[in-house]
Amino acid sequence: MNRSGLAGMIAALALAVTGACGRHAAAPAELQPKAYGAAIVLVSGEKQVAGVGAALDQPVVVQVNDAKGAPVPGALVRLAAAGSVRFLPDRGLTGSDGQFTAGVSLGSSAGRYQIVASTAGGSGKRAEVRVEEIALGYRETLGQQINAIHCIRCHDSESTPERVSNHDNLKAQPHSFTEGAIMNSMSDAALVAMIGHGGAALNKSAEMPPYGNTLTPAEIDALVAFIRAVADPPYRPQGVFDASN
Ligand code: HEC
Repeated sequence: MNRSGLAGMIAALALAVTGACGRHAAAPAELQPKAYGAAIVLVSGEKQVAGVGAALDQPVVVQVNDAKGAPVPGALVRLAAAGSVRFLPDRGLTGSDGQFTAGVSLGSSAGRYQIVASTAGGSGKRAEVRVEEIALGYRETLGQQINAIHCIRCHDSESTPERVSNHDNLKAQPHSFTEGAIMNSMSDAALVAMIGHGGAALNKSAEMPPYGNTLTPAEIDALVAFIRAVADPPYRPQGVFDASN
C-alpha cells in the first residue's frame, strides 16, 4: 500500500470513530428534574464490605426531601466516587417515595470509598450526602472468609436465618470486629496473641478459644488485616478515596 492510500485509510478510520462517538453521545437525552428538593439523606446501603471490583450485596438507597422533610418525587440524583467505582445507574429521578436506588460495584484498589449522592435544589443550591463502602484486597478477603467460618458466631450479635448467633450465650462479651474503639486500641501483636493463644492464656475469658493449632500464621495475619480493614472509625486513615478531592 502506498503512503496516500494509508493516509486515506487512517482518515476514513478517524471519521468512522468520531461518527460512532457522536451517535453514542447523542443517544441518552440528559435527564431533566421534575422537582427540586432541599436535602438528600441516606436510606440504606452504607458500610458494606466486598472484595475489590465486586458488586455490593445491597443497593445504595437515598431519599430527597423538601424543606419540611417530606419526600420529593421527580428530583434528579447523581452518584459520583473516585477510584473506578461503577453505579447502575449513576443518575436518575426519585420515585413516588422520593427515593433513588442504585447498584454499586467497588473500584479495583482495596480501601474505603466515599460515594457522593447529590441533588440540585430549586434555588441552585446543591445538597449532598456521603456514603462509605469498604473494598477488601486478597488478604482481607481471606480473613473475611476465615471469620465467617470460625469467629462470626461469637463476635457478631446479629442472628441470621441460617445460623443463630452464639453471642448472647457468652458470659464475657466479645466485640464486633467493626468496633474500632476496641480493635484499634490493640496492636497487631496483641491481636495475633489473642487469636493464637486464646483468652485464657492472656488472663481473659476462656470462652475465646485459641486458634494457634487450627489456623496458620498467614491465616491469623489475614484475620488481622480483615479486622483493620473494617474498623469503624478506621484504623488507618490513609487509603480513603474522597471524590471531592
Ligand atoms: C466461642 C466464642 C468465640 C469464638 C468462636 C471466637 N471468639 Fe474471640 N472472643 C470471645 C470472647 C468471649 C472474647 C472476650 C474475652 C474477654 O474479654 O475476656 C473474645 C475476644 C476476642 C478479641 C479481643 C477483643 C474483644 O472482642 O474483646 C479478639 C481480637 C478476638 N476475640 C478475635 C477472635 C477471632 C479472630 C476469632 C476467630 C478466629 C474469634 N475471636 C473466635 C469469644 C469467641
